Amino acid sequence: MVMETIGPKAFIHLDRLRSNLWNIRRHIGERPLLCVVKANGYGHGAVPIAKTICHEPGVHLAVFSLDEAMELRRNSIENNILIFCRMQPEFVELAFKHDLTLNLSSLDDITYLKEFISRTGQSPRFHIKFDTGMTRLGVDVSDAETVFDDVASIEGINPEGVYSHFATADEGDISYAEYQLSQFKTAVKMAKSYNINFKYIHCSNSGSVLNLPQSYFNMVRVGMLLYGVAPSSEVTMDIPVEPVMSFCGSIVQLRRVPKGTQVSYGGVYSTDKETNIGVVQTGFADGFPRSWYEDGVVSYKGQQFKIAGRVCMDQLMVDFGDETPRIGDDVLFFGKKDLDHLPAERIAKSIGSTTYVLLTAIKGRTKYIYLK
Ligand SMILES: Cc1ncc(COP(=O)(O)O)c(C=O)c1O
Repeated sequence: MVMETIGPKAFIHLDRLRSNLWNIRRHIGERPLLCVVKANGYGHGAVPIAKTICHEPGVHLAVFSLDEAMELRRNSIENNILIFCRMQPEFVELAFKHDLTLNLSSLDDITYLKEFISRTGQSPRFHIKFDTGMTRLGVDVSDAETVFDDVASIEGINPEGVYSHFATADEGDISYAEYQLSQFKTAVKMAKSYNINFKYIHCSNSGSVLNLPQSYFNMVRVGMLLYGVAPSSEVTMDIPVEPVMSFCGSIVQLRRVPKGTQVSYGGVYSTDKETNIGVVQTGFADGFPRSWYEDGVVSYKGQQFKIAGRVCMDQLMVDFGDETPRIGDDVLFFGKKDLDHLPAERIAKSIGSTTYVLLTAIKGRTKYIYLK
């Protein structure tokens, strides 16, 4: 197989990941940090991301699926790993075998744990998740007494943690997050009367790390901030972080065209003067946000150039004006590299999307290049 050097590339700046982690840590104090590496580490590569931070003090990891957790274990990641998805009876055994931490998010889940404990005499690690207003996975706070009663009645059970998830912590108005927090506190307080003492209590995400220090408890859960990107355009980024991913693509052809030349599908872009049109080898099949073509730009050698016409499946065109870029050079789509800086936040805002969608969309033929 020939190793192509042209095409889409995600440069992953692992040094920035490490310094983002430390800057978050300086902000939150000594608490353990539950680093979210689900969805292939938010599109950055779960294994290299986890390997870069796994030996930092107090780092725990969280993923969504059992498969994601197993991939980390297969790659010798030994940290605690919390699995966010709904517990399934058939994976309790495997989770126990690999010392993974399960999510108890429904009263039914207690039955699965009870069955395993009575059969083996051992308890898998698990955290109880309360739904405090997201209306997603989680035990209703109104069922807190029932869940604690049931759990307390099982000999040998090991509820290691308790948590909840905010719906609006990254918004300007945090009143709903404050309501969720008070619901969570009610549940946590109730556990004490059942003599349940959780080692880990966590309720934060990136939005609340920035917005709501009251949500830190004794463990802080964080995803997007680690990757150096704002969770929304409404939060004030008062923790210094830098984007870990720089998404780029190579220029493979340049042609001089006259004024009035139509570019790409639908002919929605027409040159307004004689200009250089570059063909860049990256398309929406590689995770490029297709709708960004309308107001979209790429950055090349510190200058921004307009995306010309609709983004195709494998390629997009750029209007370079009188600039003559070198064939084979990369343009930057988002991130920060050399002289180029184009925040993913700007694209997300412009196309009515989110930074989460942009980062996790990276796929197709994108080559990952890890920079130490
Ligand atoms: C349960 C849970 N906790 C934490 C996070 C991390 O959120 P963020 O990336 O905003 O920090 C997520 C992400 O979606 C999540 O689903």
